Amino acid sequence: MEKSDKRLFFPATQRNRGPIGEILSNFLPGDGTILEVASGSGEHGVVFQENFPNISWQTSDPNPIHRKSINAWIHYKKLSGQMPKPIHLEVEHRPWPLTDEIKSSLTAIVCINLIHISPIKCTYALFEESGILLRKHQLLILYGPFKRNGKHTSDSNYRFNESLKAQNSLWGVRDLEAVIEIGTKNKLGKLDVIEMPSNNLCIIFQKK
Ligand SMILES: C[S@@+](CC[C@H](N)C(=O)[O-])C[C@H]1O[C@@H](n2cnc3c(N)ncnc32)[C@H](O)[C@@H]1O
Repeated sequence: MEKSDKRLFFPATQRNRGPIGEILSNFLPGDGTILEVASGSGEHGVVFQENFPNISWQTSDPNPIHRKSINAWIHYKKLSGQMPKPIHLEVEHRPWPLTDEIKSSLTAIVCINLIHISPIKCTYALFEESGILLRKHQLLILYGPFKRNGKHTSDSNYRFNESLKAQNSLWGVRDLEAVIEIGTKNKLGKLDVIEMPSNNLCIIFQKK
């Protein structure tokens, strides 16, 4: 009961977990460990673990309150026997603290709504470390808002960007083309770009 009380509720996850889950069902491998970077409340993680029972969904987050929430969600959903506990992972602290077991069973990396709420050095770190950890043909899947050719794709994304910058001048909606270039430099080629509800994108990168 006590663990359940630590559950956090991020409203966006209610709206986007269905559409993101559909993309994952098209692209995720059928087995192995999926590493989720910046898992937040853990609401995505437990739903995806339930949706994809043959994989191990490894959540992570640097925020201890978020990791407590993830643990509470795992407990609440009775997934403790199936789903590992979250790890303390901050993308720019490299190498990431992954066990040999996680590294050897890793089949994909998923990152939802991180790169606009962190400095650009975090985007570089995410790609550099993913480029090292993923093996040939394995995927890095990103979800979030992006600019295209330097322009916001909607007024709401423009306003969202303004509010991000007001909170931290190093945050901001990233340019799709610039992120793809960072991927290319790290042997992560763009496989697909999928338009998602509410002016978000899913970008699928594949290790060369
Ligand atoms: C907007 S929330 C998104 C959470 C979740 N993925 C979702 O979509 O609900 C951003 C998350 O990124 C985490 N975060 C912030 N800076 C980070 C960093 N440098 N490395 C990894 N995660 C980070 C935060 O703790 C937070 O949980």
